[in-house]
Amino acid sequence: MTDPSPGPKGLYVHLPFCASRCAYCTFVVSTERRLVGAYVEAIHRELELLDLPEGTPLETVYLGGGTPSLIGGGELAGLLRAILERHPGVPGIEVTTEANPEDLTPELLGLWTAAGINRISIGVQSFVDGELTAIGRRHDAARARAACHLLARVPSVTWNLDLILGIPGQTPESLEVSLAGALEAAPHHISVYILEMDKPHRLQELYRRHPDEFPGDDTVAGLYLRVHEVLGKAGYEHYEISNFALPGAEARHNLRYWDRRPVHALGVGAHGNDGNRRWANLESLAGYLEAIRGGERPLAWETTLSPREMLAEGLMLGLRLAAGVDRGSADAGGASFPEFGRMLEGFLQRDLAVEDAGRIFLTPEGWLLSNELFATLV
Ligand SMILES: C[S@@+](CC[C@H](N)C(=O)[O-])C[C@H]1O[C@@H](n2cnc3c(N)ncnc32)[C@H](O)[C@@H]1O
Ligand code: SF4
Repeated sequence: MTDPSPGPKGLYVHLPFCASRCAYCTFVVSTERRLVGAYVEAIHRELELLDLPEGTPLETVYLGGGTPSLIGGGELAGLLRAILERHPGVPGIEVTTEANPEDLTPELLGLWTAAGINRISIGVQSFVDGELTAIGRRHDAARARAACHLLARVPSVTWNLDLILGIPGQTPESLEVSLAGALEAAPHHISVYILEMDKPHRLQELYRRHPDEFPGDDTVAGLYLRVHEVLGKAGYEHYEISNFALPGAEARHNLRYWDRRPVHALGVGAHGNDGNRRWANLESLAGYLEAIRGGERPLAWETTLSPREMLAEGLMLGLRLAAGVDRGSADAGGASFPEFGRMLEGFLQRDLAVEDAGRIFLTPEGWLLSNELFATLV
């Protein structure tokens, strides 16, 4: 191992199965649900192949997807047990799972909480039925509300709901409906993603033919700023470009990525980082299963970042956070990436970034333009 960081680690587990593929999704997903059993078995075997000495403690575990709620509750509990037997959790470990609203039942929640899951993230996306249909979701707004009510009744669980901005047909008025739905549900944490259109998916195809069905960039920017305003007034801190939390309810696993603390990874397409090493598993389910059958780590690639790459990554991840980066790092960035230095000074002059107490952070208006800034870090 090169430069392993000391201390407890995070662990991401990718569970790729979905009942169908949503129109906007570019995650590593499979609808071949007959393979669930073989896959869970493979994850158990990959656990023993991890580049992580047995007994290394875990601070967070994140069961992501795909749709982890499609894996039987007993199987998921068994997997978590096996993970924590090999890598004990630190006291207060955060164990998150993602879930789709249509899958949540009191029975499943009972199995999950008994297994130690204490954080649940549900993909609501919108509280407007027409928008949910437009993006190919299997739930409607009533089902989303019912899932939220179930979650709100489980005191041991901190929970998040996801919303998406930029959906076909979305307007400032319909956003108010989704925001009211989210605030009424009162989760501890809300993630709000702007629809990503740069990778091929069905909505990208629709956009090519009918761009008029989508809210334009200026409208989406207005929606994002409105979310910041409404959630802020309701007590949710906008602590990361896409994430809002009540005090103390920040996603500890995700903070590990933004702070670049080690996260190891199990499952098809899963990415890991430790120190200056970065790696990813194979994205093909067949290839992943075959590697595991052969007793090999299912790696697609592995790399060690240079000091220059580490600097760029640190600036990019740090500026996603409301806490921003220190002036010294920004200056080092400007020395290595002059275009970045110039653009960041421009951001400061235009109030797209603020300097305070030796730190520089982006404003919500700055976050909207951050892709341009980050593109200079190459
Ligand atoms: C990988 S999904 C897994 C969660 C779960 N399967 C679900 O969909 O409810 C995690 C979240 O990523 C977001 N997401 C997926 N594709 C996206 C895209 N193209 N643009 C923006 N957000 C996206 C959605 O909000 C989704 O809830
Ligand atoms: S958004 Fe969630 S449910 Fe939809 S295809 Fe992607 S991972 Fe599956």
